[in-house]
Amino acid sequence: MQIEIRPESREDIKEIEDVVRTAFTSRDRNDSDEHHPVNKIRKTEAFIPGLSLVALEKDSVVGHILLSKIMVEENGVSASSLALAPISVAPSYQNKGIGSQMIVTALKRAEEMGYESVIVLGHDKYYPRFGFRPASRWNIKPPFDVPDEAFMAVELTDGGLDGVEGTVRYSEAFSG
Ligand SMILES: CC(C)(COP(=O)(O)OP(=O)(O)OC[C@H]1O[C@@H](n2cnc3c(N)ncnc32)[C@H](O)[C@@H]1OP(=O)(O)O)[C@@H](O)C(=O)NCCC(=O)NCCS
Repeated sequence: MQIEIRPESREDIKEIEDVVRTAFTSRDRNDSDEHHPVNKIRKTEAFIPGLSLVALEKDSVVGHILLSKIMVEENGVSASSLALAPISVAPSYQNKGIGSQMIVTALKRAEEMGYESVIVLGHDKYYPRFGFRPASRWNIKPPFDVPDEAFMAVELTDGGLDGVEGTVRYSEAFSG
C-alpha cells in the first residue's frame, strides 16, 4: 500500500472529520462536528498548520495526526512543548503501520521546525517504540489523574526537556 503523508490543506477538513470520528467511534466515543477536537484546536493559537498531517491512500484521507502547542508550568514558570493528540487511522486501515508512519513523520517535522519535545497520553505498549518515556522522569505531570506509564514525553533534541517541568496545560479546545 502506497501511503503519502503531508500537511493538511483546506480541502482535507471534511475527510479529517470523518477519519477522526470513525476511528474514535469504534472506541465508543462520538464527537459532533461542532465539538470536533481538531476543528476546535484549528481555531486556537495552539494550532500549527505544518503539524496537522494527513495520510493519503489513492488521494483519500485514511489517517490524521495533530501536534499542537501546550505549556508546562510550575511555580509561575512556564515552558512550551507539543501535545500529540489526537491520532486517528480509519478502522479498515488500522494495524498496517500507518499510525507509526504518521508519528515518525510528525516528530521529524516538529524537530525540523525547531520544536524540542512532544508529550502524549496514550498506550504504554505503543509510544515507547518512537522514543517516548514516562513523563514523570522529567517531573512533567498531567493535569488529570492517569496511570504514570500512560503519560509520556520524548525529546526531539538533546536536552529538549531540560528545564521543562511541572503540570501540562492543554488548550481549552481539548476539553469538551
Ligand atoms: C492508535 C492508532 C492511531 C494506531 O494506528 P495504526 O496504524 O493502527 O498503528 P500501527 O499499524 O502503526 O501499529 C499497530 C500497533 O499498534 C497497536 N495499537 C493499535 N491501537 C492501539 C491502541 N489503541 N492501544 C494500544 N496499542 C494499539 C497494535 O496492537 C499494533 O501493535 P504491534 O505493532 O505490537 O502489533 C489507530 O489504531 C487508531 O486510530 N485507533 C483509534 C483511535 C485511537 O485510539 N487513537 C489514539 C488515542 S489519541
